Amino acid sequence: MQRIFSGIQPSGIPQLGNYLGAIRNWVSLQADHECVFCLVDMHAITTWQAPDKLRNQTLTQAAILLAAGIDTDKHILFNQSAVSAHARLAWIFNCVTRLGWLNRMTQFKDKAGKDRENHSAGLYVYPSLMAADILAYKATRVPVGEDQKQHLELTNDVAQKFNHDYGVEFFPQVEALIPPAAARVMSLRDGTKKMSKSDPSAQSRIELTDDADTIALKIRRAKTDTGVLPEEAGGLADRPEAKNLVTIYAALADMSVEDVLARHQGEGFGPFKQALTEVVVNAIAPIALETTRLMQDETHLASVLRSGALRAQAIAEPIVTEAEKIVGF
Ligand code: ADP
Ligand code: NA
Repeated sequence: MQRIFSGIQPSGIPQLGNYLGAIRNWVSLQADHECVFCLVDMHAITTWQAPDKLRNQTLTQAAILLAAGIDTDKHILFNQSAVSAHARLAWIFNCVTRLGWLNRMTQFKDKAGKDRENHSAGLYVYPSLMAADILAYKATRVPVGEDQKQHLELTNDVAQKFNHDYGVEFFPQVEALIPPAAARVMSLRDGTKKMSKSDPSAQSRIELTDDADTIALKIRRAKTDTGVLPEEAGGLADRPEAKNLVTIYAALADMSVEDVLARHQGEGFGPFKQALTEVVVNAIAPIALETTRLMQDETHLASVLRSGALRAQAIAEPIVTEAEKIVGF
């Protein structure tokens, strides 16, 4: 059975892009993989987080993942900072990663924008911590959205250079599992930006704990054009906002974009947004409801994470200790 590692930042409430790009696949991959799921709080503080909020969001996210169907009887769910192996291997990888590789990372450029000098060194070396997250478990498959593809290529470069520099065959190559549909869900306010839980506008995303009214309002206010839905997918080519809404509908209803268009062609966005709202509410409402229930027992959630951390540590500790030996520690 192949081992999966995947993470999500507890820097906010998971949004629809996290669900379609990652969480939904995590749930189905559990059937035939050994899974390690991580709330990456060390990644979250690459941009400042209010401490109490970070602690609280870590628990909320654990609840959301359990509500979405993560099975902690069979698989591991924990928070990153609880297992020191991540930080130790990340340091070694900081010394393997080349500055030139980091300079090419588009996510840093997107997040830092023009104000590059004012961002943390942590945000810059984020990809080498991500490589450590994965390789501390020698995981070989990583289910992620398309935005993480470049970071996984860097993970493979780090593994290869480590093996080469130290003359070992120690770290494996990893494979990105990017979903075929909705691999990049876009912002509801700006069809050129990805939907993100760290976008300052809450109107830009649907959060997995949003109630039906909130979802309806956000979709009603979503940016669109004045056209109608085309007959064929080609008719969405230069219409990023329209394309995004149709893509979300298709992914959540388990339909192809073509089938969605066959059903809704000729409709304006008024009626289509109503149909989309129904599909989104159907997918998300049960998760939100179960999350609320789980959040009533924070002691239980904390103990799920604690036992997850012990199981994670049992895998990562010998691997990272061996890596430390290899470099001469
Ligand atoms: P965010 O940008 O919302 O903070 P994270 O960095 O925590 O997201 O990413 C968690 C997972 O969700 C990753 O696998 C990432 O690829 C996926 N993901 C994030 N945003 C999107 C999106 N807009 N569309 C598809 N997948 C996404
Ligand atoms: Na992110």
